[in-house]
Amino acid sequence: MRIVLGVGGGIAAYKVASLLRLFTEAGHDVTVIPTEASTRFVGTATWEALSGNPVSNSVFDDVHQVNHVRLGHEADLIVIAPATADLLAKAATGQAGDLLTNTLLMARGPVLFAPAMHTEMWQHPATQANVETLRSRGSAVLEPASGRLTGADSGPGRLPEPDAIFDAAMALVEGQADFQLPLAGRIVTISAGGTREPLDPVRFLGNRSSGKQGVALAVAARNAGATVRLLAAHMDVPPPSGVEVVPVETALQLREAALAAAADSDVVIMSAAVADFRPAAVSDTKIKKRDDRDDPVITLVRNPDILHELVELRNSAAPGGRQQLIVGFAAETGDSDGDVLAHARAKLQRKGCDLLVVNHVGTDRVFGQDTNSVVILARSGSEPQEASGTKTEVSAAVISRIGHELNSVSPRP
Ligand code: CTP
Repeated sequence: MRIVLGVGGGIAAYKVASLLRLFTEAGHDVTVIPTEASTRFVGTATWEALSGNPVSNSVFDDVHQVNHVRLGHEADLIVIAPATADLLAKAATGQAGDLLTNTLLMARGPVLFAPAMHTEMWQHPATQANVETLRSRGSAVLEPASGRLTGADSGPGRLPEPDAIFDAAMALVEGQADFQLPLAGRIVTISAGGTREPLDPVRFLGNRSSGKQGVALAVAARNAGATVRLLAAHMDVPPPSGVEVVPVETALQLREAALAAAADSDVVIMSAAVADFRPAAVSDTKIKKRDDRDDPVITLVRNPDILHELVELRNSAAPGGRQQLIVGFAAETGDSDGDVLAHARAKLQRKGCDLLVVNHVGTDRVFGQDTNSVVILARSGSEPQEASGTKTEVSAAVISRIGHELNSVSPRP
């Protein structure tokens, strides 16, 4: 595929080098057109070296090739990243002062803008009107991510992560993209993996959670436009790129991290397998097996129920404050007291969360597996929703349901 990658004059231009690598490694032929201003951040040599193609933003270079017409005509896809306020304004008003804006006017294929700027500039009515104009003409404009900006400030305005832009671009070309990305501008905290509760410096009580489901959820949330924080207990898989990772070990550490992260999160998903109990005492030194001593007995004490605490905290917040959606996970088996759904409904009531994703477990199911089959129960009482497939597919279904719940409760900020 022939891709034109337009680079705007913002500090986030440096991240676009990674995006370019993603395109070229996927086998695409990329022509980079940096704006004059952007070359103050990243020089043309970088783009030439990484793309393997000549780089210019002048309509007067290689005039015989009529680049100002040809590049836009031939491109199967045009991606603008970072799309600055200035570039969005120029595109919306059809200006043609340089090679990039000429190329945009000549575009025949899909065009994707990935904005990045300070929050005030993004929220300014002028910028919002330009975004509306571009969208109404059929261009795709991603919502910027939220988080730390260039200075000490933070808020919506960060360039979406290169992986997210890449995925959005591919989905756009395949005609599947929903550019009202359901979690755009939202902060999503996800706990993943299994906690480890120490007994002594070398031993712990753990569980078989692999973290695969939590990582798949983090990827799905990131691709849905969210800013993702992954509270990572022990995992067998690496965390994905483009998410903030907070490593934790014990349930108490996870509790602390979850309560802190929840303070400004729109969504909290507790997919970690949290130990319900921990050893009452942790030995400072290795517990020795000594023939002259009785067999040791481990006394356990209860860990706090983090999910329940998160719900209580959310419910006690000032009315009219931030709406927060809290999602729990449950692994259930049927028994003589009731089937899986009956146990799950009771747990949903006990925990008080908004959604409960229920795994039906047997000895060989769920832990460490790549596939999964779940039922999503809602506190609102709506019909249980089933989802099955790979953990990636299940995660996409859970994230899409979360987007639906959020967007039907409160409009996107
Ligand atoms: N969870 C939590 N804190 C704990 C234990 C669990 O936040 N101390 C969360 C899990 O991350 C999951 C949900 O609660 O989202 C369900 O966990 P589960 O262990 O099944 O719930 P329990 O209350 O322990 O129910 P039971 O042991 O009766 O099955």
